[in-house]
Amino acid sequence: MKELNIGLFGFGTVGTGIYKVLGSARNAHAAIRRICVHSLAKKRAIELPEGMLTDKAADILDDPCIDLIVEVVDNAEASYAIVTEALRRGIPVVSGNKAMIARHLPELIELQRANNTALLYDASACGSIPVIRNLEEYYDNDLLLEVKGILNGSSNYILSRVFDHGENYADALAKAQRLGFAEADPSFDIKGFDSLFKLVIITIHALGVYVKPEDVFAYGIATISDFDIRYAREKGVKIKLVAQVVKLDEGRFTLFVMPEFVAPGKYIYSVDDEYNGVVIRGECYDRQFMFGKGAGSLPTASSILSDVTARHHDYRYEYKKMSYSGRPVYTDDVTLRVYLRHPGPELPDGIKFEKITERYLSGDGCYTVGNISLASLRANKAILDDPSVFLCNIPRFFLDLD
Ligand code: HSE
Repeated sequence: MKELNIGLFGFGTVGTGIYKVLGSARNAHAAIRRICVHSLAKKRAIELPEGMLTDKAADILDDPCIDLIVEVVDNAEASYAIVTEALRRGIPVVSGNKAMIARHLPELIELQRANNTALLYDASACGSIPVIRNLEEYYDNDLLLEVKGILNGSSNYILSRVFDHGENYADALAKAQRLGFAEADPSFDIKGFDSLFKLVIITIHALGVYVKPEDVFAYGIATISDFDIRYAREKGVKIKLVAQVVKLDEGRFTLFVMPEFVAPGKYIYSVDDEYNGVVIRGECYDRQFMFGKGAGSLPTASSILSDVTARHHDYRYEYKKMSYSGRPVYTDDVTLRVYLRHPGPELPDGIKFEKITERYLSGDGCYTVGNISLASLRANKAILDDPSVFLCNIPRFFLDLD
Protein backbone atom coordinates (compact mmCIF):
# COMPACT_ATOMS: atom_id res chain seq x y z
CA MET A 1 0.00 0.00 0.00
CA LYS A 2 1.36 3.43 -0.96
CA GLU A 3 2.19 5.62 2.02
CA LEU A 4 0.09 8.79 2.16
CA ASN A 5 2.10 11.99 2.59
CA ILE A 6 0.18 14.33 4.84
CA GLY A 7 0.40 18.09 5.12
CA LEU A 8 -0.98 19.07 8.53
CA PHE A 9 -2.46 22.51 9.24
CA GLY A 10 -2.67 23.31 12.96
CA PHE A 11 -0.62 21.90 15.82
CA GLY A 12 -2.72 22.61 18.88
CA THR A 13 -4.57 20.08 21.03
CA VAL A 14 -5.92 18.03 18.12
CA GLY A 15 -2.90 18.46 15.80
CA THR A 16 -0.55 17.19 18.51
CA GLY A 17 -2.88 14.22 19.08
CA ILE A 18 -2.82 13.37 15.37
CA TYR A 19 0.96 13.48 15.33
CA LYS A 20 1.09 11.05 18.27
CA VAL A 21 -1.61 8.71 16.95
CA LEU A 22 -0.17 8.55 13.43
CA GLY A 23 3.30 7.99 14.87
CA SER A 24 2.15 4.85 16.66
CA ALA A 25 -0.42 3.51 14.15
CA ARG A 26 1.33 0.61 12.42
CA ASN A 27 -1.23 0.10 9.66
CA ALA A 28 -2.11 3.67 8.79
CA HIS A 29 0.48 3.82 5.97
CA ALA A 30 0.53 7.57 6.33
CA ALA A 31 3.08 10.04 7.61
CA ILE A 32 3.06 13.75 8.35
CA ARG A 33 5.58 15.45 6.05
CA ARG A 34 5.05 19.10 6.96
CA ILE A 35 3.10 21.04 9.58
CA CYS A 36 1.87 24.59 8.98
CA VAL A 37 1.35 26.67 12.12
CA HIS A 38 0.34 30.24 12.84
CA SER A 39 3.44 31.01 14.92
CA LEU A 40 6.86 29.39 14.59
CA ALA A 41 7.94 31.04 17.83
CA LYS A 42 5.38 29.21 20.00
CA LYS A 43 6.84 26.55 22.29
CA ARG A 44 5.61 23.07 21.31
CA ALA A 45 4.87 20.16 23.65
CA ILE A 46 6.46 17.68 21.21
CA GLU A 47 9.93 17.80 19.73
CA LEU A 48 9.68 17.75 15.94
CA PRO A 49 12.25 16.87 13.27
CA GLU A 50 14.20 19.82 11.87
CA GLY A 51 12.29 21.66 9.12
CA MET A 52 8.93 20.00 9.90
CA LEU A 53 7.25 23.27 10.88
CA THR A 54 6.46 26.10 8.50
CA ASP A 55 4.26 29.18 8.74
CA LYS A 56 3.65 29.32 4.98
CA ALA A 57 0.58 27.50 3.64
CA ALA A 58 2.20 27.37 0.20
CA ASP A 59 4.95 25.08 1.56
CA ILE A 60 2.24 22.42 1.81
CA LEU A 61 -0.24 23.42 -0.90
CA ASP A 62 2.47 23.76 -3.60
CA ASP A 63 4.31 20.58 -2.63
CA PRO A 64 3.50 17.92 -5.28
CA CYS A 65 4.45 15.13 -2.82
CA ILE A 66 1.52 15.91 -0.51
CA ASP A 67 -1.38 13.46 -1.09
CA LEU A 68 -3.67 14.58 1.69
CA ILE A 69 -4.23 17.66 3.80
CA VAL A 70 -5.35 17.34 7.41
CA GLU A 71 -6.73 20.65 8.68
CA VAL A 72 -7.31 21.21 12.38
CA VAL A 73 -6.75 24.94 12.87
CA ASP A 74 -9.06 26.51 15.44
CA ASN A 75 -9.94 29.56 13.35
CA ALA A 76 -12.92 29.09 11.03
CA GLU A 77 -11.85 31.76 8.51
CA ALA A 78 -8.32 30.34 8.19
CA SER A 79 -9.81 26.84 7.92
CA TYR A 80 -12.12 27.99 5.10
CA ALA A 81 -9.22 29.52 3.14
CA ILE A 82 -7.05 26.39 3.46
CA VAL A 83 -9.78 23.85 2.74
CA THR A 84 -11.30 25.63 -0.27
CA GLU A 85 -7.87 26.26 -1.81
CA ALA A 86 -6.86 22.62 -1.36
CA LEU A 87 -10.13 21.34 -2.85
CA ARG A 88 -9.77 23.73 -5.83
CA ARG A 89 -6.37 22.18 -6.45
CA GLY A 90 -7.91 18.71 -6.28
CA ILE A 91 -6.11 17.80 -3.04
CA PRO A 92 -8.28 15.71 -0.67
CA VAL A 93 -8.78 17.12 2.82
CA VAL A 94 -9.64 15.76 6.25
CA SER A 95 -10.96 18.51 8.52
CA GLY A 96 -12.36 18.81 12.04
CA ASN A 97 -13.61 22.39 11.82
CA LYS A 98 -17.33 22.10 12.47
CA ALA A 99 -18.06 25.85 12.42
CA MET A 100 -16.47 26.23 9.00
CA ILE A 101 -18.05 23.08 7.60
CA ALA A 102 -21.55 23.83 8.92
CA ARG A 103 -21.48 27.37 7.52
CA HIS A 104 -20.14 26.44 4.07
CA LEU A 105 -21.39 22.90 3.40
CA PRO A 106 -23.18 23.54 0.07
CA GLU A 107 -20.09 25.26 -1.37
CA LEU A 108 -17.77 22.56 0.00
CA ILE A 109 -19.91 19.82 -1.56
CA GLU A 110 -19.84 21.64 -4.89
CA LEU A 111 -16.05 22.08 -4.70
CA GLN A 112 -15.61 18.35 -4.10
CA ARG A 113 -17.77 17.54 -7.13
CA ALA A 114 -16.21 20.13 -9.43
CA ASN A 115 -12.66 19.10 -8.59
CA ASN A 116 -13.29 15.37 -8.24
CA THR A 117 -11.82 15.25 -4.78
CA ALA A 118 -12.93 14.56 -1.19
CA LEU A 119 -13.47 16.34 2.09
CA LEU A 120 -13.90 14.02 5.08
CA TYR A 121 -14.89 15.33 8.49
CA ASP A 122 -15.99 12.63 10.90
CA ALA A 123 -13.95 14.36 13.61
CA SER A 124 -16.15 17.44 13.31
CA ALA A 125 -19.04 15.82 15.21
CA CYS A 126 -18.85 13.82 18.45
CA GLY A 127 -15.08 13.32 18.60
CA SER A 128 -14.35 9.61 18.58
CA ILE A 129 -17.90 8.46 17.71
CA PRO A 130 -18.19 7.57 13.99
CA VAL A 131 -21.57 9.20 13.62
CA ILE A 132 -21.23 10.89 10.23
CA ARG A 133 -19.94 7.95 8.24
CA ASN A 134 -22.58 5.69 9.79
CA LEU A 135 -25.41 8.08 8.95
CA GLU A 136 -24.04 8.48 5.43
CA GLU A 137 -23.54 4.79 4.71
CA TYR A 138 -25.72 2.65 6.95
CA TYR A 139 -28.87 4.70 7.45
CA ASP A 140 -29.40 5.22 3.75
CA ASN A 141 -33.12 4.57 3.79
CA ASP A 142 -36.47 6.07 4.70
CA LEU A 143 -36.58 4.56 8.17
CA LEU A 144 -34.60 7.16 10.08
CA LEU A 145 -36.85 9.20 12.37
CA GLU A 146 -34.61 11.04 14.79
CA VAL A 147 -31.01 11.72 15.76
CA LYS A 148 -30.73 13.15 19.23
CA GLY A 149 -28.02 13.47 21.79
CA ILE A 150 -25.23 15.15 23.63
CA LEU A 151 -22.86 16.56 21.02
CA ASN A 152 -20.72 18.88 23.12
CA GLY A 153 -18.17 17.41 25.50
CA SER A 154 -17.32 20.64 27.34
CA SER A 155 -20.83 21.60 28.40
CA ASN A 156 -21.50 17.99 29.38
CA TYR A 157 -18.30 17.98 31.42
CA ILE A 158 -19.35 21.22 33.16
CA LEU A 159 -22.87 19.93 33.89
CA SER A 160 -21.47 16.65 35.26
CA ARG A 161 -19.03 18.42 37.55
CA VAL A 162 -21.73 20.79 38.81
CA PHE A 163 -24.48 18.16 39.16
CA ASP A 164 -22.60 15.12 40.39
CA HIS A 165 -19.66 16.69 42.17
CA GLY A 166 -21.15 19.94 43.45
CA GLU A 167 -18.40 21.98 41.80
CA ASN A 168 -18.88 25.53 40.83
CA TYR A 169 -19.66 26.39 37.20
CA ALA A 170 -16.69 28.70 36.60
CA ASP A 171 -14.20 26.17 38.02
CA ALA A 172 -15.67 23.39 35.89
CA LEU A 173 -15.43 25.54 32.76
CA ALA A 174 -11.79 26.39 33.55
CA LYS A 175 -11.07 22.66 33.93
CA ALA A 176 -12.75 21.88 30.58
CA GLN A 177 -10.44 24.45 29.01
CA ARG A 178 -7.34 23.07 30.74
CA LEU A 179 -8.15 19.52 29.65
CA GLY A 180 -8.38 20.63 26.00
CA PHE A 181 -12.12 19.98 25.61
CA ALA A 182 -13.34 23.54 25.13
CA GLU A 183 -13.12 25.66 21.98
CA ALA A 184 -10.62 28.54 21.84
CA ASP A 185 -13.67 30.70 22.58
CA PRO A 186 -15.59 28.55 25.12
CA SER A 187 -18.76 30.56 24.63
CA PHE A 188 -19.24 28.42 21.49
CA ASP A 189 -19.54 25.39 23.79
CA ILE A 190 -21.70 26.83 26.53
CA LYS A 191 -24.01 28.89 24.30
CA GLY A 192 -24.89 25.85 22.17
CA PHE A 193 -23.20 26.92 18.91
CA ASP A 194 -20.74 24.02 18.85
CA SER A 195 -23.67 21.57 19.21
CA LEU A 196 -25.56 23.52 16.56
CA PHE A 197 -22.74 23.23 13.98
CA LYS A 198 -22.49 19.50 14.65
CA LEU A 199 -26.26 19.13 14.34
CA VAL A 200 -26.29 20.91 10.96
CA ILE A 201 -23.60 18.52 9.70
CA ILE A 202 -25.43 15.49 11.11
CA THR A 203 -28.69 16.64 9.47
CA ILE A 204 -27.26 16.71 5.96
CA HIS A 205 -25.97 13.16 6.38
CA ALA A 206 -29.13 11.95 8.14
CA LEU A 207 -31.82 13.51 5.95
CA GLY A 208 -29.98 14.96 2.95
CA VAL A 209 -31.10 18.49 3.80
CA TYR A 210 -28.88 21.48 4.54
CA VAL A 211 -30.22 23.98 7.07
CA LYS A 212 -28.24 27.18 7.65
CA PRO A 213 -27.02 27.44 11.27
CA GLU A 214 -28.59 30.89 11.62
CA ASP A 215 -32.04 29.42 10.89
CA VAL A 216 -31.87 27.03 13.85
CA PHE A 217 -32.70 27.72 17.50
CA ALA A 218 -29.61 27.00 19.60
CA TYR A 219 -29.66 27.71 23.31
CA GLY A 220 -26.94 26.64 25.71
CA ILE A 221 -26.18 26.42 29.41
CA ALA A 222 -24.52 29.83 29.80
CA THR A 223 -27.26 31.21 32.06
CA ILE A 224 -27.95 28.14 34.22
CA SER A 225 -28.14 28.96 37.96
CA ASP A 226 -28.22 27.12 41.28
CA PHE A 227 -31.98 27.68 41.27
CA ASP A 228 -32.37 25.62 38.06
CA ILE A 229 -30.06 22.91 39.35
CA ARG A 230 -32.05 22.67 42.59
CA TYR A 231 -35.28 22.42 40.57
CA ALA A 232 -33.87 19.54 38.50
CA ARG A 233 -32.55 17.75 41.61
CA GLU A 234 -35.94 18.02 43.31
CA LYS A 235 -37.59 16.44 40.27
CA GLY A 236 -34.97 13.65 40.20
CA VAL A 237 -33.66 14.56 36.72
CA LYS A 238 -30.40 15.88 35.27
CA ILE A 239 -29.95 18.83 32.95
CA LYS A 240 -28.10 17.95 29.72
CA LEU A 241 -27.43 20.05 26.64
CA VAL A 242 -29.25 18.16 23.90
CA ALA A 243 -29.26 18.60 20.12
CA GLN A 244 -31.92 16.93 18.05
CA VAL A 245 -33.18 16.54 14.51
CA VAL A 246 -36.62 14.94 14.38
CA LYS A 247 -38.95 13.95 11.55
CA LEU A 248 -42.43 15.21 12.46
CA ASP A 249 -44.15 13.38 9.61
CA GLU A 250 -43.25 12.28 6.06
CA GLY A 251 -42.96 15.85 4.84
CA ARG A 252 -41.46 17.83 7.73
CA PHE A 253 -38.68 17.79 10.26
CA THR A 254 -37.41 20.10 12.95
CA LEU A 255 -34.08 20.60 14.68
CA PHE A 256 -32.86 22.57 17.67
CA VAL A 257 -30.33 22.67 20.51
CA MET A 258 -31.57 23.23 24.07
CA PRO A 259 -30.86 22.11 27.62
CA GLU A 260 -33.22 19.33 28.56
CA PHE A 261 -34.41 17.66 31.77
CA VAL A 262 -33.30 14.06 31.36
CA ALA A 263 -34.91 11.36 33.48
CA PRO A 264 -33.04 8.32 34.88
CA GLY A 265 -33.42 5.41 32.48
CA LYS A 266 -32.87 7.52 29.37
CA TYR A 267 -29.73 6.51 27.50
CA ILE A 268 -28.23 9.98 27.70
CA TYR A 269 -28.84 10.23 31.46
CA SER A 270 -25.64 8.28 32.11
CA VAL A 271 -23.55 10.13 29.53
CA ASP A 272 -21.26 12.16 31.78
CA ASP A 273 -18.07 14.21 31.67
CA GLU A 274 -16.66 14.83 28.19
CA TYR A 275 -18.50 11.85 26.73
CA ASN A 276 -21.06 12.28 23.96
CA GLY A 277 -24.06 10.04 23.35
CA VAL A 278 -26.24 9.86 20.25
CA VAL A 279 -29.60 8.09 20.04
CA ILE A 280 -30.70 7.15 16.53
CA ARG A 281 -34.35 6.26 16.27
CA GLY A 282 -35.90 4.55 13.27
CA GLU A 283 -39.02 2.82 12.14
CA CYS A 284 -38.01 -0.84 12.26
CA TYR A 285 -35.32 -0.84 14.89
CA ASP A 286 -36.70 1.56 17.50
CA ARG A 287 -33.54 2.98 19.07
CA GLN A 288 -29.80 2.59 18.73
CA PHE A 289 -27.28 4.31 20.93
CA MET A 290 -23.72 5.43 20.18
CA PHE A 291 -21.53 6.49 23.07
CA GLY A 292 -17.94 7.67 23.31
CA LYS A 293 -15.52 10.44 24.11
CA GLY A 294 -16.64 13.56 22.32
CA ALA A 295 -13.72 15.91 22.98
CA GLY A 296 -10.04 15.87 23.73
CA SER A 297 -6.81 15.42 21.85
CA LEU A 298 -6.57 11.65 21.31
CA PRO A 299 -10.30 10.82 20.91
CA THR A 300 -10.57 13.45 18.17
CA ALA A 301 -7.30 12.30 16.62
CA SER A 302 -8.66 8.74 16.46
CA SER A 303 -11.48 9.97 14.26
CA ILE A 304 -9.05 11.85 12.01
CA LEU A 305 -6.98 8.67 11.72
CA SER A 306 -10.06 6.78 10.57
CA ASP A 307 -10.69 9.37 7.83
CA VAL A 308 -7.01 9.23 6.81
CA THR A 309 -7.10 5.45 6.41
CA ALA A 310 -10.43 5.71 4.54
CA ARG A 311 -8.59 7.77 1.91
CA HIS A 312 -6.47 4.71 1.08
CA HIS A 313 -9.67 3.38 -0.47
CA ASP A 314 -10.59 6.72 -2.06
CA TYR A 315 -13.54 6.97 0.30
CA ARG A 316 -15.67 10.08 -0.07
CA TYR A 317 -19.13 11.11 1.05
CA GLU A 318 -21.58 10.83 -1.82
CA TYR A 319 -24.38 12.91 -0.28
CA LYS A 320 -26.81 10.53 -1.99
CA LYS A 321 -29.72 11.57 0.19
CA MET A 322 -29.53 15.13 -1.16
CA SER A 323 -30.78 13.89 -4.52
CA TYR A 324 -33.70 11.87 -3.14
CA SER A 325 -37.13 13.07 -4.12
CA GLY A 326 -39.59 13.93 -1.35
CA ARG A 327 -36.99 15.00 1.17
CA PRO A 328 -38.61 16.44 4.30
CA VAL A 329 -38.72 20.20 4.75
CA TYR A 330 -37.45 22.01 7.86
CA THR A 331 -40.06 23.71 10.03
CA ASP A 332 -39.99 25.49 13.38
CA ASP A 333 -43.79 25.37 13.56
CA VAL A 334 -43.81 22.95 16.46
CA THR A 335 -44.87 23.23 20.09
CA LEU A 336 -42.47 22.37 22.90
CA ARG A 337 -43.02 22.05 26.62
CA VAL A 338 -40.45 24.12 28.51
CA TYR A 339 -39.36 25.38 31.90
CA LEU A 340 -38.52 29.08 31.87
CA ARG A 341 -36.82 30.79 34.81
CA HIS A 342 -37.41 34.54 34.75
CA PRO A 343 -36.38 37.42 37.04
CA GLY A 344 -39.77 38.68 38.26
CA PRO A 345 -43.39 37.50 38.49
CA GLU A 346 -44.18 38.77 34.99
CA LEU A 347 -43.00 36.85 31.93
CA PRO A 348 -40.29 38.74 30.02
CA ASP A 349 -41.74 41.03 27.31
CA GLY A 350 -42.43 39.15 24.10
CA ILE A 351 -42.55 35.67 25.66
CA LYS A 352 -45.98 34.12 25.10
CA PHE A 353 -46.87 30.62 26.22
CA GLU A 354 -49.67 28.81 24.36
CA LYS A 355 -50.62 27.16 27.63
CA ILE A 356 -49.24 27.49 31.18
CA THR A 357 -49.30 24.39 33.38
CA GLU A 358 -47.23 25.49 36.37
CA ARG A 359 -46.00 28.77 37.85
CA TYR A 360 -43.74 29.44 40.82
CA LEU A 361 -43.32 33.03 41.95
CA SER A 362 -41.25 33.72 45.02
CA GLY A 363 -38.47 35.86 46.40
CA ASP A 364 -35.87 33.20 45.67
CA GLY A 365 -36.84 32.89 41.99
CA CYS A 366 -39.69 32.55 39.52
CA TYR A 367 -40.40 30.01 36.82
CA THR A 368 -43.14 29.10 34.40
CA VAL A 369 -43.73 25.71 32.80
CA GLY A 370 -45.89 25.38 29.73
CA ASN A 371 -46.26 25.00 25.99
CA ILE A 372 -44.54 27.40 23.65
CA SER A 373 -43.78 27.37 19.93
CA LEU A 374 -40.25 26.87 18.68
CA ALA A 375 -40.80 29.72 16.21
CA SER A 376 -41.54 32.11 19.09
CA LEU A 377 -38.41 30.97 20.96
CA ARG A 378 -36.37 31.78 17.84
CA ALA A 379 -38.02 35.18 17.52
CA ASN A 380 -37.26 36.00 21.18
CA LYS A 381 -33.73 34.60 21.37
CA ALA A 382 -32.20 37.89 22.59
CA ILE A 383 -34.56 37.96 25.60
CA LEU A 384 -33.79 34.34 26.44
CA ASP A 385 -30.04 35.04 26.36
CA ASP A 386 -30.34 37.46 29.28
CA PRO A 387 -28.45 36.10 32.33
CA SER A 388 -31.63 36.41 34.42
CA VAL A 389 -33.37 33.82 32.23
CA PHE A 390 -32.87 30.08 31.69
CA LEU A 391 -34.80 27.83 29.34
CA CYS A 392 -34.99 24.05 29.51
CA ASN A 393 -36.89 21.56 27.36
CA ILE A 394 -39.25 19.09 29.06
CA PRO A 395 -39.32 16.20 26.64
CA ARG A 396 -42.35 14.36 28.02
CA PHE A 397 -44.48 16.46 25.70
CA PHE A 398 -42.39 16.36 22.55
CA LEU A 399 -41.49 12.93 21.19
CA ASP A 400 -40.08 11.50 24.37
CA LEU A 401 -39.17 8.22 22.76
CA ASP A 402 -35.45 8.02 23.32
N1 HSE B 1 -15.31 21.89 22.15
C1 HSE B 1 -15.78 20.68 21.59
C2 HSE B 1 -16.57 19.92 22.65
C3 HSE B 1 -14.62 19.87 21.11
O1 HSE B 1 -16.43 20.28 23.83
O2 HSE B 1 -17.29 19.00 22.33
C4 HSE B 1 -15.00 18.65 20.31
O3 HSE B 1 -15.72 18.99 19.17
